Amino acid sequence: MAELSSETRFLHAMEMGLGAWQWGDRVVWQYGHGYGDAEVHQAFLASLNEGIRFIDTAEIYGNGRSERLLGQFLKETDQPVLIATKFLPFPWRFGKGAIVRALKGSLSRLGVESVDLYQIHWPSPLLSIDTMMEALAGCVRSGMTRTVGVSNFSQTQMLAAYSSLARHNIPLASNQVHYSLLNRTIEKNGTLARCKELGIRLISYSPIEKGLLSGKYSVDSPPPGARGRNYTNLLPKIGPLLKLMTEIGQDHGGKSNAQVALNWVICKGALPIPGAKNAEQAQENAGALGWRLTDEEAVRLDETSSKIWE
Ligand SMILES: NC(=O)c1ccc[n+]([C@@H]2O[C@H](COP(=O)([O-])OP(=O)(O)OC[C@H]3O[C@@H](n4cnc5c(N)ncnc54)[C@H](OP(=O)(O)O)[C@@H]3O)[C@@H](O)[C@H]2O)c1
Repeated sequence: MAELSSETRFLHAMEMGLGAWQWGDRVVWQYGHGYGDAEVHQAFLASLNEGIRFIDTAEIYGNGRSERLLGQFLKETDQPVLIATKFLPFPWRFGKGAIVRALKGSLSRLGVESVDLYQIHWPSPLLSIDTMMEALAGCVRSGMTRTVGVSNFSQTQMLAAYSSLARHNIPLASNQVHYSLLNRTIEKNGTLARCKELGIRLISYSPIEKGLLSGKYSVDSPPPGARGRNYTNLLPKIGPLLKLMTEIGQDHGGKSNAQVALNWVICKGALPIPGAKNAEQAQENAGALGWRLTDEEAVRLDETSSKIWE
């Protein structure tokens, strides 16, 4: 692996973070139905209490509500929290200035002077990678962010971003992508290996596959709304994997399926950022830390998951 730069080392030192998409989102997560501001505040506090210090949000989550809530919560704690947020390249956003303006908006909602990681949420056909990276380099130089990363970038796009930033003498800190026992694309296409080689932290989103790997959903009881529709084909196939996860969890003193799912991601060398709607979920997810699947268990999980999603 490449030698890590001192700026990005903190991302490699962390084993797990907390995702904050759920905080205010009604489109996928039914914010306001069964949970709200008080519950996500408790999720935040429970995570901090368990030693989780890295929170991933985005300007688009809840149309800014996730960042605003995080900003409120930060004011009420004296614990150090590392913040990652993201720029969404909407089609009407052109040029480097759009990125700088968006980050200023995020900082204002968060109530902070700088963030720890600023990410491009998705690649865009309308903004070249060089333009985006030049803008990100400017954000680092002006002190508005400590490090910069990308999200949903293919290996080719990631390498272009890496090279482009290198011309500014700035490391690409991370690539945040979908990675779970039910989606191993980045393992198969070499992106994970390339990240390790170059010292880019691979941040795994949807590590519990939006709740599916907890084992609480089934064909007869699918997740609500769009999630249920997206998983119509997958739900009938996941029984054997969930059974194996439960068996393995039992061998580790009763670890839950969600904890096994997260531990598997950690064992693969990626940084999971599970979303939590309340303290119970946050606390349970933190129980993925402090123990390790054996190599043999990881192989059995790999084999069973390969039969499902390939
Ligand atoms: N960069 C991107 O494009 C992108 C895309 C997606 C996500 N993300 C980031 O990654 C984070 C995590 O991904 P995600 O939210 O999509 O999926 P996830 O972490 O796999 O799943 C989170 C959901 O699973 C359920 N859950 C969480 N902990 C649980 C537990 N212990 N037991 C049972 N159910 C539990 C909750 O939903 P229910 O209770 O409703 O089931 C929760 O909202 C997001 O918050 C966001 O920060 C980024």
